[in-house]
Amino acid sequence: MKFFVDTANLEEIKDVQALGILDGVTTNPSLMAKEGIAGDENVLKHYKDICDIVSGDVSAEVISTEFDGMIEEGLKLASLDPKIVVKIPMISEGIKAIKHLTSLGIKTNCTLVFSAGQAILAAKAGATYISPFIGRLDDTNVDGIGLIHQLTSIFQIYGFQTQVLAASIRNSLHIVRCAEVGADVVTCPAKTIHGLFNHPLTDIGLEKFLADHAKMNKS
Ligand code: E4P
Repeated sequence: MKFFVDTANLEEIKDVQALGILDGVTTNPSLMAKEGIAGDENVLKHYKDICDIVSGDVSAEVISTEFDGMIEEGLKLASLDPKIVVKIPMISEGIKAIKHLTSLGIKTNCTLVFSAGQAILAAKAGATYISPFIGRLDDTNVDGIGLIHQLTSIFQIYGFQTQVLAASIRNSLHIVRCAEVGADVVTCPAKTIHGLFNHPLTDIGLEKFLADHAKMNKS
């Protein structure tokens, strides 16, 4: 399972990259706004800065909701760096844009996926990734992990190449549950990835090892 970090914060990306387990980055307009990135030139430069930090795929989202605008934005984003994946919303114009960009050899990530029907449409259009938002589904009393399981089963039956990228991850247990049901990728905030380290027995065990070593090696 690949690990993407879900942020536009360069320090956060560097922090996870330093662990040596980072496979890519996802962003969205809200995450860009959180970093105060505005204006076409600044946005493009920021995506380029992210690409310079990581070696894997970097999802950059279009703002247009019409086919022509999505293609224009998508081509501009894709020309920045081969790592760029054009992130497109799950609407009918988006499906047309995914089909077109895929035919040009440009990677795409279909975002705002909340049902198996939507995911099948994106897979048929040739999306590189689909992003089901599990945390937002959980918030509406629908089992987000259940959707990931449903999608990995369907994609396996039909041999779809589209990767299931579990998004809107809220806690470290979500990551483990995604692994259990075969998600291809999880994208999560750095703090959620760091949460995987936590176990009190590790801390207690390490403290004891170091204390015993110190006891026998007094200077
Ligand atoms: C990433 O691709 C999504 O945009 C992101 O995970 C959404 O997360 P949120 O539901 O926490 O905003």
